[in-house]
Amino acid sequence: MSLGNEVEPFRAAVHEAVDHLVDHWRALADERLPVEPLRAPGATAAALPAEPPEQGEPLDRILQDTWDTVVPGLVHWQHPAFLAYYPTSNSPASVLAELVTAGLGVQGMMWATGPAATELEQVVTDWLAQALGLPGHFLHTSGNGGGVIQDSASSAVLVAVVAALHRASHGRWRGHGTEGRYRLYRTDEANSCVAKAARVAGLGESAAVPTLPGTARMDPEALRGRIAADRRDGAVPAIVVATVGTTNTCAVDPLAEIGRICREEGVWLHVDAAYAGSAALCPEHRWLNDGVEAADSYAVNAHKWMRTGTPCNVMWTADRRSLTEAMSVSPAYLRNDATDAGHVVDYRDWQIPLGRPMRALKLWYVMRAHGLTGLRDAIRHDVRMAALLAELVAGEAGFHLVAHQLGLVVFRLDTDLRTREVAESLAGDPAVALTASAVDGRQVLRAALGSPLLTEATVHRVWHTIRGHARSGGPAPAAAGAR
Ligand SMILES: Cc1ncc(COP(=O)(O)O)c(C=O)c1O
Repeated sequence: MSLGNEVEPFRAAVHEAVDHLVDHWRALADERLPVEPLRAPGATAAALPAEPPEQGEPLDRILQDTWDTVVPGLVHWQHPAFLAYYPTSNSPASVLAELVTAGLGVQGMMWATGPAATELEQVVTDWLAQALGLPGHFLHTSGNGGGVIQDSASSAVLVAVVAALHRASHGRWRGHGTEGRYRLYRTDEANSCVAKAARVAGLGESAAVPTLPGTARMDPEALRGRIAADRRDGAVPAIVVATVGTTNTCAVDPLAEIGRICREEGVWLHVDAAYAGSAALCPEHRWLNDGVEAADSYAVNAHKWMRTGTPCNVMWTADRRSLTEAMSVSPAYLRNDATDAGHVVDYRDWQIPLGRPMRALKLWYVMRAHGLTGLRDAIRHDVRMAALLAELVAGEAGFHLVAHQLGLVVFRLDTDLRTREVAESLAGDPAVALTASAVDGRQVLRAALGSPLLTEATVHRVWHTIRGHARSGGPAPAAAGAR
């Protein structure tokens, strides 16, 4: 970095970038921008030079090109009418932290390479565990447990699987691999990342545990039966992945019963609370985690519903030894006195990659800037907005409410054909983004409310748009005329 030539243009460009961002957020809030681009595949690539620049270019030109060429081709996840998948909500505090983190440029793979980065992460994950009402044995201060910031819920599941394999095999797995012996249990409602983690860890595919009749929740007795059958076949049950807030319908697995079975059987229990876990900030939603005391690990995506930009998954374990023993590899070039003395946390042993940025600053900024009260208010607002949408859906002839939990509203029309038609029509409307899916073999539409810019007016506008598509096979006149 040349302080003479690079730093002052950077200072100016950062001011300009912030102006662009604030204007962008205002345009999203006023719905002056569509949620999704109406661009054919390849349009953005065609607008970019095929060759890299030989000479350096000024930052302000690169910044302007971002807005002219890239931003128009983006799906705007922060748009108030972005109701697809689950949200990834952001905030100015989070953006500021990302800038400062990048500027400090720390690589915090071990305590020795970033002492304050590591200790801040220990403190903020302990803060968040307390704020969510999680058991004390997940805290670093407990001695056996602790939290770590991963990039994604997918990584958290994979790390849990690896720790479970280590524990179930009494360490044998490290030298011998999986040998086709170990089993992972999940339902078909678990996120796709669970099946992927099983594959990546060498466990292969296994039959899903059935759900309780008429629900999307794991059937504990069926789980018990599967574990017993696998033991009879000589397999080793290693891990159950339960979900608090499934992706499709936000169903909550019965943790207490599952946890009891895991304890009796000595099987690792990982709880994937990627979306719904944030709601436990509010005491009235803490029932979601009933039974979590028996979990060996638990993870929530702060980047979904906690005003923290992606990536920021927070994972806790009650058994950090299994995790670090499974993961640690210590060549000479990573040895240092602090590690050898055993008094510090080296986060390289809590994750798959070796290197990592300073991850904790973002969560620290967000928790301080919003306070728990601000984060709770945001969740309560979205839950109220979802209740409003659910009420509008339930009161409309020809519409059927399929599921409504927290910020998620799942609905269908009278027939699968009608639902599909409306889903296709909505997919061509850039003013709203929903997700088409299937529940119990029937077509549905999912609306997940959680944009930081969501207002009651947006909910009414979105509902008007959906109804317009259902009535005419196209956007409602007022909604279409608005853009
Ligand atoms: C329940 C659940 N688990 C895991 C994931 C995957 O999250 P990530 O993209 O952070 O891996 C999702 C994504 O929506 C989810 O809903």
